[in-house]
Amino acid sequence: MKPEFPSDLYSDSERKMAEALVETENHALKTTDSTEEDCDCKDGMFNGMSRRRMLAVSAALPAALMTNAQAQGQEAPPGSVAYDVLDDSTSRQGRVILGDGGYGTRSQFENSKRWRYPTASLDSSWSMTPIADGHGVITPSGLHFERHHAGIPTIDPDNHSLILHGLVDTPMKFTMADLYRMPSVTRTHFIECSGNGLTEWAAPTLKTVQGTHGLTSTSEWTGVALSSLLEICGVGDGAAWILAEGADAAVMTRSVPISKAMDDAMLVYAQNGEAIRPEQGYPLRLMLPGFEGNTHIKWLRRLEVSDKPFMTREETAKYTDLMPDGMARLFTLEMDAKSVITFPSGEMKLPRPGFYEISGLAWSGRGHVVKVEVSADGGRSWTEAALQEPVLDKCHTRFRLPWNWDGTELILQSRATDSTGYVQPTIAELVALRGTNSVYHLNAIQSWKISAAGEVTNVHA
Ligand code: CO
Repeated sequence: MKPEFPSDLYSDSERKMAEALVETENHALKTTDSTEEDCDCKDGMFNGMSRRRMLAVSAALPAALMTNAQAQGQEAPPGSVAYDVLDDSTSRQGRVILGDGGYGTRSQFENSKRWRYPTASLDSSWSMTPIADGHGVITPSGLHFERHHAGIPTIDPDNHSLILHGLVDTPMKFTMADLYRMPSVTRTHFIECSGNGLTEWAAPTLKTVQGTHGLTSTSEWTGVALSSLLEICGVGDGAAWILAEGADAAVMTRSVPISKAMDDAMLVYAQNGEAIRPEQGYPLRLMLPGFEGNTHIKWLRRLEVSDKPFMTREETAKYTDLMPDGMARLFTLEMDAKSVITFPSGEMKLPRPGFYEISGLAWSGRGHVVKVEVSADGGRSWTEAALQEPVLDKCHTRFRLPWNWDGTELILQSRATDSTGYVQPTIAELVALRGTNSVYHLNAIQSWKISAAGEVTNVHA
């Protein structure tokens, strides 16, 4: 059944976007195992290719090919290599050390991956993090969501530099070597695209939490405090904004308040303990903790200090929020508090009544999460979940709640409160405030319906 996107709620371009996303998700779901029988193992409850299915694929190979599993590269999920699987792993020596060339791969039985929004072009598109597959709060670098406006540039760090100029006492150019030498700082923060959930304003649309919430990821970032560079160059009188410019073919630009630049902004060159990935801005990215993802300029090459914002395309034609009265909110930079249950979530199936641990992620762009409550009755009553330490500022926080499902149909929800006292709203409250003209900044409570058969679906409640 095809969801409909009525013209009073969706513009032509929004409808096309929503339809395309639905199609992509359907395709992703079709290529995974939907016929798998129920099982007690946790794998069986998840969408995506299970270990059992992967084993079945291997077992179906003719014996002659089984000994050449590595030659069957197409059977290995991205980031892995297909190796022989013996009936008895103790019967023979395993493969030799450094057979991976010195850089490791994940297990061939792990299939978690991003999927892409089906834009017409492959270079202006976005991909979503499979957050239901995650553990803890760190997103593996290879699964961090992406948004590119003109593809991923390949930049030699030896030939890359950052220019800081404009309303400063001394304009300067910093090479990567200059930045590596400076005192460094490491912090763990989420980045969320302000378009996360863009299909969900008017009606529940995508089926999985990867579709509804996959435009957020958390990494440990290392780099230099932007305030250090501004102190070296000397900020001039009247400085109020700073333009950040990327070295991609879109020459992506955003204006950032100087107060943010002097507060906790970072220029990052590392992610999760190694150099930042090319698709995340190698060799240098602006990191603005808690701000919408588009402002974290990748492949950063220029910073210009000014007394006013630059009013670039990405802060006038895009990334503004059109309100019901026709006025648009500008520079809505901070991401509001939000949470979502990742287990159980859309397209999963609970095999039978009994014990489950409800788990999910909560975050706020304005501080840290102080409380996450879970409702199993559509919001009539709430129970406080446990927060997994450490609970960090502007960072995904894992919450958990032991739960006994009695086998009845119900609606599961989570609701975050952040350190400013802000409480995550319902979708009805948010729509009453903002209308449905804008696709950005949807932070409403997510509802998952559990049917008596244990099937989990995306609903508005
Ligand atoms: Co915004």
